[in-house]
Amino acid sequence: SNEKQHFRIGFSQCGMDDRWREEMVEGMNRELSFYPELSMILKDSKWNNKTQYAQIEELINLPVDLLIVSPNDSKFLEPVITKAYQKGIPVLVVDRHVFSDQFTAFVGANNLVVGQHAGEYANILLNGHGRVLEVGFGPRTAPALGRHNGFHSVIQKYPHIQYVDYMNKDWADKDLREALRQKLKSNPDLTDLIFAHNDRCALIAYDVCKELGIEKKIKFIGVDGLVGNNLGLDLVKKGIINATILYPTGGEESIRVAAKILRKQAFEKENQLFTSVIDAQNVNIMLAQLNKLKEQHADIERQATRIKDLTKIFSSQQAVLYLSFFF
Ligand code: FRU
Repeated sequence: SNEKQHFRIGFSQCGMDDRWREEMVEGMNRELSFYPELSMILKDSKWNNKTQYAQIEELINLPVDLLIVSPNDSKFLEPVITKAYQKGIPVLVVDRHVFSDQFTAFVGANNLVVGQHAGEYANILLNGHGRVLEVGFGPRTAPALGRHNGFHSVIQKYPHIQYVDYMNKDWADKDLREALRQKLKSNPDLTDLIFAHNDRCALIAYDVCKELGIEKKIKFIGVDGLVGNNLGLDLVKKGIINATILYPTGGEESIRVAAKILRKQAFEKENQLFTSVIDAQNVNIMLAQLNKLKEQHADIERQATRIKDLTKIFSSQQAVLYLSFFF
């Protein structure tokens, strides 16, 4: 047959300097070890829209057989994502949705639902009475739009919950820290709850409140729920934040969907990942499950390395055989 034997995937990643995105790429690499016919080229745009635009163009020009993209700013990158799609390169959007229909498939959790979960949980934590402050990490990102709309729409339903403010910028951690410090210093009794769009921002909010001596009076909700020291689940376990809304990275799923597309097998256009509230009630069971999974992941990685080593030994033996044939 004239079927292609090898496929090159290009992954345009908006940034890599946080654990969440590292974990996503780890999941992708682990899953890739099951598909010897696939390889992946990763481009990190370091949160720069123009860089990401240019990197996607590079991947189009190679060309890659499939493009995976997590767009920093969905609107800004829409033209180049559309261009890839219209050139016939399958486009798999992950985590940050695009607003057009010019893509092949999507893998990610529903950010509107993430925001709604946070809103409902805020109401429970506050017993229906109190003030809420929302903190985002980038006004033009798709997750911020979804999380904000979900949270705000739920909060609005409760007559005795007041919405204080939505602080949302493309800030570096230290700028968010400073902005929160200024805001809460001038009014330490501003809010009863802080909903931060990810656990990292929730921890910054907590730190600032602690500095001002008000952390005990305030409830905190984050998003992501990663495993590891001072990451989401650990913060819930330690009682630093009250809850996190689980937001899986979908690394493995993305490669699975990409492989189906490339093999021309049936696939879903929308692949929604599971999300739910993790609080003190269920954090231990969650951690136990995820630690078990981590052990299995380590096994898979060990086996993948072993297979690679065996393949190397095998091909060098082949070479020896080949040489001995001539000499
Ligand atoms: C990581 C991150 C996560 C967040 C996601 C949204 O880079 O900021 O914390 O859930 O991106 O795209």
